[in-house]
Amino acid sequence: MVRTRFLLSAAFAVMIAGSQAFAAQSEPQVLGGTPEQAEPAAMEKEAAPAESAAAEIPHEAAAPAAAAEHGAEAGGAASHSGGHSVIAEQSWSFDGIFGTYDRAALQRGFQVYKEVCSACHSMSRLAYRNLADLGYTEAEIKAIAADVSITDGPNDEGEMFDRPGRPSDHFRAPYVNIQAAKYANNGAFPPDLSLIAKARHGGADYIYAILTGYEEPPANRELLPGQYWNKAMNGNVLAMPAPLNAGQVAYGDGTDQSVDQYARDVAQFLTWAAEPHMEVRKRTGVKVFLFLLVFTGVLYAAKRKVWSKVH
Ligand code: HEC
Repeated sequence: MVRTRFLLSAAFAVMIAGSQAFAAQSEPQVLGGTPEQAEPAAMEKEAAPAESAAAEIPHEAAAPAAAAEHGAEAGGAASHSGGHSVIAEQSWSFDGIFGTYDRAALQRGFQVYKEVCSACHSMSRLAYRNLADLGYTEAEIKAIAADVSITDGPNDEGEMFDRPGRPSDHFRAPYVNIQAAKYANNGAFPPDLSLIAKARHGGADYIYAILTGYEEPPANRELLPGQYWNKAMNGNVLAMPAPLNAGQVAYGDGTDQSVDQYARDVAQFLTWAAEPHMEVRKRTGVKVFLFLLVFTGVLYAAKRKVWSKVH
């Protein structure tokens, strides 16, 4: 009997350990404000998944070429660049092992991406038809795609031509190539956002923190043109101007039109984009856990039956 209890508790211990590992995997990581945790940007970039679109394209640090030239004169700049990022943990509907996406928030987040972020950032891993996951109907998706003009071709005369988008088209990129993107953004490349929520520590927390983290630089810091102070950014200097302003995106559902709400919604949309199958993964995990629980009971009952004569 003692041995049975021991076996049972061992089985439970294994399951609980397993479930915790499972929950830990689904929980977004949080970057604290301690200097040890504020790793150099280069290390963060390495943490991106190998197949990440964001990783495929060289990521330009905040400082455009002009900044490098200024470096010598600015002198103090380098010694100040150790500022660490401040990223607060937020609460999300997709947290935890039973977490799910909030469809209304995802749709609003897509609207923010479409109306604001897509001016500079591509999301080339997404096709318009993937928006079905957000709860849009086929007709709505056709209309969203048709609103965009896609360059196709060549036609029979060897010319490229524009046509309305189709649900099977991938999200249209704002620039034709990386050089054009950099040229338009003061030398900095706006990374593709398809996998950014996975490619940066903190995921949704990080994106929310960046979008709401703009501040005036401290008095002793002078920023170059095209640089902005952001308390969530590693080094605190970012080449993206604050993209969101209150009232900028008109929500149809009466949701608050504040920077905070826009940032929250687009962070959720970008998390979904990076991990569209998260809900299925979590549901599977819960089912496996329940199965193991029941199976342990069955094994225990069988064991008692088999050994009943011996005891
Ligand atoms: C005017 C162009 C522009 C707009 C609009 C814009 N961005 Fe950016 N974004 C940039 C540039 C340029 C960078 C690169 C900054 C750098 O490397 O310092 C960037 C970088 C980023 C990063 C990566 C920061 C990092 O860790 O390297 C995120 C995340 C991001 N943008 C999200 C967004 C979101 C979400 C929106 C819409 C709400 C948006 N951006 C709108 C230009 C833009």
